[in-house]
Amino acid sequence: MSDDERAQRLAELKRKMQESAKAKKAQQSATETVSKPAVEKVKDTSSAEVTASAAPATETPAAVVVETAKPAAASVAAAEPSPVTASAFKGGREPTPDDRAKSQMNRREFLTYAWGAALGLAVLQTAAVSFFFMYPRFKAGEFGGAFFMGPETAVPPTDAPPQNEPDGKFWWVNVEEEGPHAIYVVCTHLGCLYKWVDENYRFECPCHGSKFTREGFYIEGPAPRSLDQFEVTLVDGTYVVDTGAKTLGSPADESPFKGTG
Ligand code: FES
Repeated sequence: MSDDERAQRLAELKRKMQESAKAKKAQQSATETVSKPAVEKVKDTSSAEVTASAAPATETPAAVVVETAKPAAASVAAAEPSPVTASAFKGGREPTPDDRAKSQMNRREFLTYAWGAALGLAVLQTAAVSFFFMYPRFKAGEFGGAFFMGPETAVPPTDAPPQNEPDGKFWWVNVEEEGPHAIYVVCTHLGCLYKWVDENYRFECPCHGSKFTREGFYIEGPAPRSLDQFEVTLVDGTYVVDTGAKTLGSPADESPFKGTG
């Protein structure tokens, strides 16, 4: 081989090597550009399967795009947890029928306990209110409580003046054919304490002049009604006045003694 031929051969070899190096470099840069996003996507979905299927560096860019994009999309969809899984179960696993039954049982138990507690509270409240109303708040012999006025045989005569009972705040009056009455000592006009006036044989209020009969009926004056009275009952032969049970007097206009004063 002549020197010229050797030089030509060397020049050709050098050119081929340069072309081969250029082609390889271009292929590498193309592969990096395409495969980078695919790998990042795969990382986001946390799928080992997809990472494994990422395109090898030796394949063409087009093939890499096709092979990496498909598994990435598939694995993203597969990795998305369902609402039930995310909200109800740790670890993102699918709830089994057993899990669902347990969950429903817990809700049922909670409602049962809540209803039980509410019912118990209502019963307790009712019992407390009943006790409050039924418990005697006044002792016997105190105003607001019961007064034992003695046996039937001990009541005053029906023509006797009213008997004052200061502790019970009532006048004790025996009325023919009706029995004893307990008349509240407070005037029905503005609350003054009226008096028994023996000379006139009637009750008279010193404040504004209202007048009432011995039995408590309205006669005249600004009072709007007859005198109020307490409940009288005969218990085992004994008269009992309940100063906690007051009956309002009838309206002044209905009094049979109105204007007779
Ligand atoms: Fe008795 Fe006025 S308070 S008449």
